[in-house]
Amino acid sequence: MDIRMNTLTPELFLELYGSVGWEPPCPEQVRTALRHSLATFTCYDGDRPVGMVRLLGDGGMSFYIKDFAVRPAYQGKGVGTGLLMALERYVRDCKPRDWAVSLELISSREAVSFYRRFGFEERPCDWDGPGMLKMVR
Ligand SMILES: CC(C)(COP(=O)(O)OP(=O)(O)OC[C@H]1O[C@@H](n2cnc3c(N)ncnc32)[C@H](O)[C@@H]1OP(=O)(O)O)[C@@H](O)C(=O)NCCC(=O)NCCS
Repeated sequence: MDIRMNTLTPELFLELYGSVGWEPPCPEQVRTALRHSLATFTCYDGDRPVGMVRLLGDGGMSFYIKDFAVRPAYQGKGVGTGLLMALERYVRDCKPRDWAVSLELISSREAVSFYRRFGFEERPCDWDGPGMLKMVR
């Protein structure tokens, strides 16, 4: 398996997105989103793309993980771990050593324990409320 940066195309995005059962946005929306992503990471088994994750952010204080999906047949084999490690390495390399930046996400119900093992903490907690989200239509 190897992980490549910024090779994700709208077509591939839609294929991997659909593979985990998510309702896809339209291709033009995906094209725009990819163009404005900080980086994308795609995992390949030979030439076959098997997982992806997208990183958004301002490069200085806040980074955000989106659209993390591994094809069902490849789940539980370390693909997600590899993708998350590549993404985190990229964030570390982006910043001076003495900067602390936040890496945020909204987890699917199933992936909470996956993220926990990489040090992500759930909200709400003693000093923070829950994350919040609003769809704008
Ligand atoms: C969540 C996801 C990205 C993780 O990728 P993955 O390739 O399956 O993860 P890995 O194989 O690297 O798993 C690492 C560890 O986490 C565990 N793990 C993975 N997914 C898990 C889950 N849903 N629940 C509990 N543990 C999980 C694995 O068992 C593994 O443990 P091990 O090292 O003891 O064997 C992937 O399962 C997926 O695409 N799920 C469906 C879509 C989704 O929910 N995405 C997250 C959106 S926020």
